[in-house]
Amino acid sequence: MNNFLAALRGETHEEIPVWFMRQAGRYLPGYRGIRTRMSIREMCRDVDTTVAATLEPVKSIGVDAAIIFADIMLPVESMGFSLDFVEGVGPAISNPFKANRSLSGISDFSLENYGYKTYDSIRRIRSSNDSLPVIGFSGGPLTIASYLVNGRPDRDLAQTKELLLSGDRDFRKLLRMITEMVIMNSREQIRSGASTVQIFDSWAGYLSPGQFSSYAENYLGEISSELNHHAPLIYFSTQTSSMSDIMVSAGFSFLSLDWRCNLHQVMEFLGGEVGLQGNLDPAIAEISRSAALEEGHRIASSMSGFPRYIFNLGHGVLPGTNPETLKELVKAVHSIELKI
Ligand code: CP3
Repeated sequence: MNNFLAALRGETHEEIPVWFMRQAGRYLPGYRGIRTRMSIREMCRDVDTTVAATLEPVKSIGVDAAIIFADIMLPVESMGFSLDFVEGVGPAISNPFKANRSLSGISDFSLENYGYKTYDSIRRIRSSNDSLPVIGFSGGPLTIASYLVNGRPDRDLAQTKELLLSGDRDFRKLLRMITEMVIMNSREQIRSGASTVQIFDSWAGYLSPGQFSSYAENYLGEISSELNHHAPLIYFSTQTSSMSDIMVSAGFSFLSLDWRCNLHQVMEFLGGEVGLQGNLDPAIAEISRSAALEEGHRIASSMSGFPRYIFNLGHGVLPGTNPETLKELVKAVHSIELKI
């Protein structure tokens, strides 16, 4: 069986699997070429381009799984939000929630109105290469909502917290609608052939443990209980390693953690019952190949006694990263002897 799938399920395998978050990005020459001609949204409306972007890192870096090329914000467009991606900023919404503090013009997500070729592209990849696992993904409700509040990234979650703490009813309704969207979008990716879905909750670490329990855990619990029996899920967040027990209580048994923690210690704290993914600092991978290889080897070796471990960065690949560094990292991690 494929090493990635086996590690995801805690079954025996030969090599520690490796993939990189944002592995289909600007650091790759093929991707940069496509982006001179097309925007992200145009790319995601075209099956051939989506498939090419998804497969480039598999071919050139040698990772063990492909992550479908898409974005966590694409589905909000079919809910009535007007989405664009602005160079150097990120997702931009021209009719944000805070502009009128109501949900007028906003509707439930429906698969029929989702105008992107994410699902068709997963099917295409799976039908032409059935031994390559495809990772589907969605955003976490809080993280998606934070981009909808003012229409720009909400630094420190300041505006989002104001709405959460004031008990704004429409905002709570919006979180519920996003949760439904995440479930439908993830389930459709699994139906199309994705082996797992990673929930990207990049901003969750700006909450305290108490706030996480009050404002994120119930939505995440709904997502995990709806999807867990369809496919194993991975929950990604940053600056949350001290809340790993709460993420497990929310129903996630595979966590992707950033570089601000010792993965082995987190595994011991959790009693060895969960899967962990991570956690090389992407800045190291961008700055120095030798430091990345040394640190990557150290991290992966410390986890080589656990069957449910997947090597990754602690966040997305940075644009200045040399693809050769990631290729060498894959080889270095694969060469580590597993003790399972
Ligand atoms: O991993 C992959 O290769 C798949 C593609 C992927 C994209 N976005 C495409 C994209 C994935 C997994 C994402 C996830 C995503 N999108 C997250 C969670 C992970 C994280 O980075 O925290 C978030 C918060 C978003 C929202 C988003 N989209 C932001 C903040 C930005 C701008 C910042 C940036 O990294 O460029 C985007 C734009 C975006 N999404 C790009 C890509 C390839 C960059 C656009 C470009 O190439 O010009």
